[in-house]
Amino acid sequence: MPLNHRSTLTQFLIEERRRFPSASGDFNALILDVAIACKAIARAVAFGELGGFLGNHAAEQGGSTNIQGETQKKLDVLSNDVFIRRTEWAGNLAGMASEEMDLPYQIPGNYPRGKYLLVFDPLDGSSNIDVNVSVGSIFSVLRAPRDLDEMARELQRDVTEADFLQAGSTQVAAGYALYGPTTMLVLSVGSGVNGFTLNPNLGEFMLTHPKLQIPADTQEFAINASNSRFWESPVKRYVDECLAGKPGPRGKDFNMRWIASMVAEAHRILMRGGVFMYPRDTKDAAKPGRLRLLYEANPVGFIIEQAGGRASTGRVPMLDVQPTSLHQRIGLVFGSRNEVERIERYHTEPARSDSNTPLFAVRSLFRDQDS
Ligand code: F6P
Repeated sequence: MPLNHRSTLTQFLIEERRRFPSASGDFNALILDVAIACKAIARAVAFGELGGFLGNHAAEQGGSTNIQGETQKKLDVLSNDVFIRRTEWAGNLAGMASEEMDLPYQIPGNYPRGKYLLVFDPLDGSSNIDVNVSVGSIFSVLRAPRDLDEMARELQRDVTEADFLQAGSTQVAAGYALYGPTTMLVLSVGSGVNGFTLNPNLGEFMLTHPKLQIPADTQEFAINASNSRFWESPVKRYVDECLAGKPGPRGKDFNMRWIASMVAEAHRILMRGGVFMYPRDTKDAAKPGRLRLLYEANPVGFIIEQAGGRASTGRVPMLDVQPTSLHQRIGLVFGSRNEVERIERYHTEPARSDSNTPLFAVRSLFRDQDS
């Protein structure tokens, strides 16, 4: 492997910080601790069955479920623990919240508390763990509310759910690690998006993908089509028009992808454009969407928008949504700007009758061809 002189993540953060001479260094320290957590998770993912890491958590005791009612995998639990242990000690955090914990995590009393909140999904796409398909970690950094901020070093009270209920536009930083053929860390500190590849020899994240930009147009979309009967009509219309291809209203052929790891889909879209949809649907009235606002939709939305793309509920910009609960679910559409804007436009136009759309026409992909 030839030597090269790419920046390390540490160098990148120090150089970014020079633009803010009054910065304390706490933020950089936090991001570097998160990066160590991601490296540790990458190792566990890479060892897989050899490390005894596959399968459900505590299967011998009948397994365990998280607040979402989803079965936790061993790697979900391990990754959550790694995030906590690597970041709780340093005095940079006032508290944390995670997909895997019902309630906010309090920094133990023997550690100093700091001015940031860390919100994360330690292992996104965990249905892919046991089948050796890419998974990732995704995180968001928020400022702790002001009353905590002022007392940051000697925190007088524990964090509450309300402290985390901040619109995505207030995020200080967001990022993800992708555990794929290579391990990558993609980070935005609010001035664009940069991608780092883990050099396994050095154990360092190296800046390999500076200043990522998402093309405004695309011919690729991602959606779980098995939910098509539950989609709302603007989504049906959009997908239908894509499927109609060159002879259809869009006048071009589209390609479709579904990895079932949102982090991996976001990464593909950052690399070559595309649109991802897990829209609000009618599958379960108790769940207005599948993905979680605080630790999936908001961080991915921040990254995508920082790369010139767009993230939306389909109706309003994702980063404007005022969260109402820690584990809130939401419809999510993100990717190439012109496509996301088109989907938003379809949501504001008068409803069209499904029977008029080719999605459900006799020769449609989503209709039983024998009927
Ligand atoms: O937990 C969220 C997640 O695993 C995402 O990473 C992914 O996009 C989605 O769920 C997959 O959902 P489905 O199983 O419906 O395809």
